Amino acid sequence: MSKWKISEPVFEADYKNEKLRIAPWEGHRIFAYDFLQFFRPNKILELGTHYGCSFFAFCQSVKDFKLDTELYAIDTWRGDEQAGLYGEEVFNTVKDTVNDSFSDIRVNLIRRTFDEALDLFEDNSIDMIHIDGLHTYEAVSHDFLTWLPKLKENGVILFHDVFSPAGYGSNRYWKELKEQFSYLEFRHSWGLGLLFPKGDHLLKKMMEINIEDKISLYQYKALYEFEQIKTKDLSNMVLQRDIAIKSNEEMIIERDQSLKDARNLIKSKTDAFEAAEIMIKERDMALVNSEYMIKERDEALSKAENMIKDRDEALASAESMIIERDELIKNMENMIGIKDNELRNIQEEVKDLKEQFNELTLKCEENERIIESYKSKKIIVNLKRPYK
Ligand SMILES: C[S@@+](CC[C@H](N)C(=O)[O-])C[C@H]1O[C@@H](n2cnc3c(N)ncnc32)[C@H](O)[C@@H]1O
Repeated sequence: MSKWKISEPVFEADYKNEKLRIAPWEGHRIFAYDFLQFFRPNKILELGTHYGCSFFAFCQSVKDFKLDTELYAIDTWRGDEQAGLYGEEVFNTVKDTVNDSFSDIRVNLIRRTFDEALDLFEDNSIDMIHIDGLHTYEAVSHDFLTWLPKLKENGVILFHDVFSPAGYGSNRYWKELKEQFSYLEFRHSWGLGLLFPKGDHLLKKMMEINIEDKISLYQYKALYEFEQIKTKDLSNMVLQRDIAIKSNEEMIIERDQSLKDARNLIKSKTDAFEAAEIMIKERDMALVNSEYMIKERDEALSKAENMIKDRDEALASAESMIIERDELIKNMENMIGIKDNELRNIQEEVKDLKEQFNELTLKCEENERIIESYKSKKIIVNLKRPYK
């Protein structure tokens, strides 16, 4: 056991994870830090670590005071119905914090359920157990009863949430434990109980240095820090609100500008729309006109078609007339041929007749000459009778 001193530690884990500064366990960190310096345990085990607000306070003390302590954190790192279910990011942050700040001390992260981890530890082997898993009555009593055998003689068990404002079953169980064993308790920051179920040697040592006065001091300190955090938070909030108001104002200006742009756009689109409407109207009119024109052309076309039909008919009747005439001409030509033949026959007859006539004329002339000669010889007077 060492001399008790009240420290002002820097919790390095906070640099990695800001959330630790406002975790429910935060108000007990300085007490835990100083308590380990006083107690100097060999083995510390935590049931329920989450982001590690409590666990890294223990680690910080072991590191800063160079304690010969091995630390075990047991958690599924999947969450529960009260802490809420969470993802891999939580365990990754815890692992990174250990690597960044506590790689020089003996830290063990055991990713199991509390029950599954039981076999890893000998009975009477652990100096300090911190129970901070699920805070129902059943869970806390189960965790206490199953892990109690692992606690060393004169060891201590820490319980968080023994004055939980949420009214968890852990409050009731703590009341029951207090009736059976020696204890110390803090009521702030959801309550922290220190139970000495296997001998009160440590408690007595703490009493010797007036731990109860110190408890009040830690409580005030925690409350003061809590108020400071709250004030800091509030001023941060004010600052952030100022920033938000400023960025809102900028947004409003930007929105005004984009509203203006949008209005201009709407106007130019409305103008374009109106122009398009006029164009459409004009095109409609042109369409109506062209429909009229098409109608007129259709009518002219149908007239022309009728004319063509008439002409076709006239042409057809002319053709049949031509055919008839051709036949007529053919007939006439045949007739002409016949007549030509007749004519030729007649001409030949005429020719024959002419030749006969000429012969007869010659004979007549002969006869006349003969007559003349007879006349001259007064032989005959009336030889012309055969010509009647
Ligand atoms: C209240 S949180 C721990 C808070 C932490 N001690 C701190 O200082 O911020 C409870 C954690 O216990 C773990 N848990 C609850 N029941 C468990 C069980 N039976 N086995 C393993 N982990 C458990 C959850 O995953 C959760 O991360």
